[in-house]
Amino acid sequence: MVGTAQRNPGAGGVDGGVGVTALLVAAARAIETHRDDSLARDVYAEHFVLAASASAGWPVRMHQVPDGDANPLWGRFARYFGLRTRVLDDFLLRSVQAGAHQVVLLGAGLDSRAFRLDWPAGCVIFEVEREGVLAFKHDVLSGLSATPKAARVPVPIDLRADWVGALTDAGFDATVPTAWLAEGLLFYLPRATENQLIDTVDRLSAGGSALAFEVKIEKDLLEYHDSPLYTATKEQIGIDLLNLFDGEPRPDSAGDLADKGWSTSVHTPFDFTRRHGRGPLPERNDALEGNRWVFANKPSV
Ligand SMILES: C[S@@+](CC[C@H](N)C(=O)[O-])C[C@H]1O[C@@H](n2cnc3c(N)ncnc32)[C@H](O)[C@@H]1O
Repeated sequence: MVGTAQRNPGAGGVDGGVGVTALLVAAARAIETHRDDSLARDVYAEHFVLAASASAGWPVRMHQVPDGDANPLWGRFARYFGLRTRVLDDFLLRSVQAGAHQVVLLGAGLDSRAFRLDWPAGCVIFEVEREGVLAFKHDVLSGLSATPKAARVPVPIDLRADWVGALTDAGFDATVPTAWLAEGLLFYLPRATENQLIDTVDRLSAGGSALAFEVKIEKDLLEYHDSPLYTATKEQIGIDLLNLFDGEPRPDSAGDLADKGWSTSVHTPFDFTRRHGRGPLPERNDALEGNRWVFANKPSV
C-alpha cells in the first residue's frame, strides 16, 4: 500500500484563484461527456461542478447553454478541453501499455482518470495538487462512493514548494519508468518553477519515461486579450484567465527536454481536431493560437 503524503495546510481550494480553473475544466468535461459525438467521457465531472459554490449555475449539459455551440466558452472552449482530455487519456494509456507503471499527474485538479480509465494491474497514480483542491475532490468522490481503478495516491502540495520530497514520501520510485502529465498547468507557474519542474521530471525519470504537457508559445499573452474565449470566460463566469496566467515570458521547455536527450514532438490542438474529425479549428483573434501540446520520451538505456 502506498502512503499518502503529509498535508500542506493553507493551500487554496476550488472556490477562488487558480483553483477555480479546475472547475472550468470539469464543467467542460461534463458537457463533453453528454455530447452525442463525445470525445471523452467523465461521469464524475458534473458532480464537482454541482458541489462547488464557485460554479453555481454553470451548465453541465449543452442544452443548458442558450446559444449552444455558438457560445465561445461552453461551445468552442469546452470542446477544446474535451479534445485535450481525449488526447491526453490516449497518451497516458499508450505510455502505461509501453511499460510505465507509475503515473504522476502534476496540477491534477479534478482529473478523475484514476477512476475512469482502465489501468494495467500494478499501476500507481500520484496526483500532485494543492491541498484545498484535493480535499474538495476527496469529499465529492467519497460522496459518490467512487472506486479508483488503480492505486491512487493524492500528494497535497504546492508545486512551488518541495513537491519532490512529498512525492518521494508518498512512494514514488525514480528507478521505474513514469508517465508524467502537466495538463493546463505550466502557464500558471512562474518561469523559474517551470524550469525547475522540467529539470526535476528529467532527474526523476528512468529511461522509458514519458511526459506530456501544454504550453502557450505566444510572446505576449495579452495579444488575444479581447478574443471571444477570454472575454466570454470573464463575462460569463468571472474567471479572468489572463490575470491567472503567469505574466513572465515562457521558457522553451520542449527545447530544454530535447537538449537533455528526450525525443519530443510538438502539436497544435488543431492537429488533433483534424485527426478526430471534431474539436476547435483556427479562427481570427484566437486565444488558442499559441497553444501547443508537447509529447516527450526519455530513451531507454
Ligand atoms: C486548469 S486546472 C487543470 C487541472 C487538471 N490538470 C485538468 O486538466 O483537469 C489547473 C490546476 O493547476 C493547479 N495549480 C496551479 N498552480 C499550482 C501550484 N503552484 N501547485 C499545485 N497545483 C497548481 C490548480 O490548482 C488547478 O487545479
